[in-house]
Amino acid sequence: MELMDTIRQRKSVRKYLDKPVEREKIVECIEAARLAPSADNIQPWRFIIIDSQELKMNFCRYVCSGIFKPTRFIERAPAIIIILAKLNIIVHRIAKVATRTDLYLLDIGIAGEHLVLQAQELGLGTCWINWFNVKKAQSFLQIPNKYRVISLIAMGYAGGRATKFKPDLPLEEILFFNDDYKKKL
Ligand SMILES: Cc1cc2nc3c(=O)[nH]c(=O)nc-3n(C[C@H](O)[C@H](O)[C@H](O)COP(=O)(O)O)c2cc1C
Repeated sequence: MELMDTIRQRKSVRKYLDKPVEREKIVECIEAARLAPSADNIQPWRFIIIDSQELKMNFCRYVCSGIFKPTRFIERAPAIIIILAKLNIIVHRIAKVATRTDLYLLDIGIAGEHLVLQAQELGLGTCWINWFNVKKAQSFLQIPNKYRVISLIAMGYAGGRATKFKPDLPLEEILFFNDDYKKKL
């Protein structure tokens, strides 16, 4: 498939078929993430896959409670990918002071989207998840302090057509050549 077709077809999937995701396909998605660019090629990402039904249910119930209950739908995704970032990397600390940018978050975003697009290419649906209790996820999984849980990605075969809550902004609203932005932003 052409890259642009894959990009156009990807939508966040929140309903899944009751069909397991083949581990080889998950590994292919992680391989796509592995090859992503990162600042100073630090590759701060680590991936934990939960595809055991019992572990997934316990995890989802624990991290999607209270204000995070709307995210409980992920318990019906056959696989949950937990993306961790390695913390306290010196280059990241210097960049944060010098540029005010958290490079590890950029890196995680890029790698995660590589993963998501590869999943799309393999016929799998995904949904990025950040509305969950990160502190509880960290403790449930007993993640060492030098790593932080950043995002989840729910993965499975789509159980219907995914629809967007909000439309994508048109190009005119987000793209500016030269000093056009001065009148438009
Ligand atoms: C960093 C990030 C976090 C997100 N967190 C959630 C979430 O917690 N729950 C959810 O249902 N969707 C979540 N989404 C999915 C967005 O709602 C979705 O990408 C957006 O509405 C655009 O729709 P599309 O992905 O179908 O293009 C998240 C997306 C991103 C990129």
